[in-house]
Amino acid sequence: MEGAKEGMSSDQHTNPQSSQDFSWWQRGVIYQIYPRSFKDTTGNGTGDLQGVIDRLDYLNDGSTGLTTSGTSESLGIDAIWLSPIFPSPMADFGYDVSDYCDVHLLFGDLATFDRLVTEAHRRGIRVIIDYVPNHTSDQHPWFIESRSSGDNPKRDWYIWRDPRPDGSPPNNWGSYFGGPAWTLDETTGQYYLHQFVKGQPELNWRNPEVRAAMMDVLRFWMERDVDGFRMDVVGLLIKDAELRDNPPNPDADPNLPPNDLAGRLLQVYNQDQDEVHEIIRDFRRLLDEYGDRCGIGEIWFELPRWIKYYGDGSAGSPGDGLHLPFNFRLMWLPWQAQVMRQSVDELETALPAFAWPNYVLGSHDFPRLASRFGGQAQARMAGLMLLTLRGTPTLYYGDELGLENGVIPPEKIQDPQGINLGAERTRDVCRTPMQWDDNPNAGFSDVEPWLPVSADYATRNVAAQSADPTSILNLYRRLLWYRRGSPALYGGSYEPLDVGDDDCFVYLRTAGDERRLIALNFTADQRYISVPSENAGQIVIS
Ligand code: GLC
Repeated sequence: MEGAKEGMSSDQHTNPQSSQDFSWWQRGVIYQIYPRSFKDTTGNGTGDLQGVIDRLDYLNDGSTGLTTSGTSESLGIDAIWLSPIFPSPMADFGYDVSDYCDVHLLFGDLATFDRLVTEAHRRGIRVIIDYVPNHTSDQHPWFIESRSSGDNPKRDWYIWRDPRPDGSPPNNWGSYFGGPAWTLDETTGQYYLHQFVKGQPELNWRNPEVRAAMMDVLRFWMERDVDGFRMDVVGLLIKDAELRDNPPNPDADPNLPPNDLAGRLLQVYNQDQDEVHEIIRDFRRLLDEYGDRCGIGEIWFELPRWIKYYGDGSAGSPGDGLHLPFNFRLMWLPWQAQVMRQSVDELETALPAFAWPNYVLGSHDFPRLASRFGGQAQARMAGLMLLTLRGTPTLYYGDELGLENGVIPPEKIQDPQGINLGAERTRDVCRTPMQWDDNPNAGFSDVEPWLPVSADYATRNVAAQSADPTSILNLYRRLLWYRRGSPALYGGSYEPLDVGDDDCFVYLRTAGDERRLIALNFTADQRYISVPSENAGQIVIS
């Protein structure tokens, strides 16, 4: 193929094969919603579940048809993942849960949630919720009991230890949000463990009662027809039995803020202990009992350790661990074709046959991909890559508009990571309100939103981009629609091609006699690549 810009070519249009061999979480595309920032319907400046219901048609209206101009009316995603919606004092914006089996008043109530599930399912959208098993809020009744006395029956539900002889914390672990990972409780004279803010005490997963109670939480939501769980920092559930000190990190950045104790240590004893896999197998067994549910894990470890979270699978078995440990590897790579290819190829080579790949390029914890990868051109191509690699893509709300990092004045910073570790670390930048139209507050809310709307909302919004056939939103719509009808894209094999230009990442996706060639040019110039003639074809999306 000559003169290709980034784009996709096809040898011929083939009829889609049966998609029945794939589970929804393999074939489908997941869309992460940060509920606080999606759509406010109550006029308090914070998004809510009714707002999600109202905007479901934007995500997938249940028809996957195209308008005459060749663009689909709705995005065409297959599943939504909702960041936490549970009662919470919001010390870490919902990742500090005070009741696992209810909905925060800000977002609605259980009845609204049930309606959301019904309305989503009616459109063919699966619903995945966040499950936060590593820690509760310090306002959770379990912790209130646990801290009330040294011999309370729930004392051992959390991780309590005596001070060292000099009164200092039991070990040297640091919190990911700055400061020590231990807080002294004056009442009982012991420290409790929290690897995030001190309002997030960590559950003791070595205690069988904790395990049973937390399994009941999964049951509760599966009974309400939830299709899957995104399990928060699930690799942290088990810590070293002796809680040994972590060793110093010889490669630590010398400019870390003084309170970034965790950044100065290697995370050896506080996470990724082998015993955690027992718990994950229990999760999997329970999900399998309910049938067709999906377990996704937030797992950050190096490839060989990360792969273990899929569990073991003998020939023909689907594995006994997580369906999808999130793969964040591409997120922080430099914007270079061969670096991206290398990461994809390493993954493809390392994955056992039963393990299904997946890719994440944006989330509520990191700068927007448009800002991280360099700009709008990169944002478009990142979407093309994400939606054409082999495996399940997870999109982050607003990345389909090319949203860039919000500008958050220091006095408006909300995120504890930004408050404790410095403004440049605040995650608020990627949590700004969804930009629906050019009305005040971007059509997100009638009042001032909880975080400032980005300045570009008047032009970068759903309404404006819907009207522009060349917008990134319409590129996403075309890609999603095309992918849905293409077994090669949602389920085919992946084969990287050497095309004689290191600035291009080119791969072939094949299923049966359907072949799709994806050619990603990582530069701003036109490039010519050579591919074997049997791959010559017609450009379908560019
Ligand atoms: C995960 C979440 C993050 C949260 C942390 C503690 O990393 O994605 O937002 O702050 O866990 O729960």
